[in-house]
Amino acid sequence: MSAMTPDLTGRTVIVTGAGSGIGKAVAIQAAVIGANVVVTDIKGQDETAAEIGAAAEAHELDVTDAGAWSRVVEAVVASRGGVYGLVNNAGIASATDSLAVQTEEGWDAMIGVDLKGVWLGMRAVLAPMLAAGEGSIVNVASVAGLIGVSDVLAYSAAKGGVIAMTRQVSIQHAKDQIRVNAVCPGVTQTPILGDISDELLAAISNITPMGRLGQPDDIAGLTSYLLSPASAFLTGQAIAICGGFSVQ
Ligand SMILES: NC(=O)c1ccc[n+]([C@@H]2O[C@H](COP(=O)([O-])OP(=O)(O)OC[C@H]3O[C@@H](n4cnc5c(N)ncnc54)[C@H](O)[C@@H]3O)[C@@H](O)[C@H]2O)c1
Repeated sequence: MSAMTPDLTGRTVIVTGAGSGIGKAVAIQAAVIGANVVVTDIKGQDETAAEIGAAAEAHELDVTDAGAWSRVVEAVVASRGGVYGLVNNAGIASATDSLAVQTEEGWDAMIGVDLKGVWLGMRAVLAPMLAAGEGSIVNVASVAGLIGVSDVLAYSAAKGGVIAMTRQVSIQHAKDQIRVNAVCPGVTQTPILGDISDELLAAISNITPMGRLGQPDDIAGLTSYLLSPASAFLTGQAIAICGGFSVQ
């Protein structure tokens, strides 16, 4: 295997929101290429860890809870000896997120999980990554953080903020050999799509140059590459993975 083949053998990677969808696929793919995966979520984490087997450990982690972050990272450092990677994937979306209808409560909830949760995660793993002299963080943003998309006001604000934090932290810690990148999926088939009608999903497929929606494994493949030393010279980037949707 060349050094440029994604490989996470013996490396410990924390994945948030790994009970479902993209996070679950990320956790499984990371384990396939050798990682010890710390599967975290507010639900479904035990099932994903059981599917992976001995390479996984599950922790309940609400990404908005700074105390929970400290407890989980301390436990992982104790059990695995350190933290090499973090995938800040947990996220929520809402069907009522336009300027006309978003509420203050809804705004705060979305910013709490999708933006503040990413900051708390990066903050929690900083000390072990500095101690190890290396680290790789992948933040799951969205094409909605890069271009205008209808009906996703607070969501776009949060994801745009994630991309800005990704750039800032990548510069701040580049010389510490801590890399920080963002993946920006287009519409991807997971439970977060909720009640979106088949007709609307078909319409989105039709206006996507590649003619289909994303699948969780599409996003997991890029995430594995960004986590691994195969992308050693890549930092601060926000990479759209959307079948060409965002470049039209
Ligand atoms: N599916 C898409 O079309 C799409 C597109 C762009 C970006 N994304 C992003 O991908 C990420 C994963 O979403 P998904 O599509 O797999 O959705 P999903 O609903 O399948 O998974 C999201 C996971 O996050 C968890 N979660 C929610 N709140 C949490 C909290 N406070 N603490 C910890 N975990 C929490 C949920 O329990 C769930 O398991 C999200 O950040 C989402 O914004 C998704």
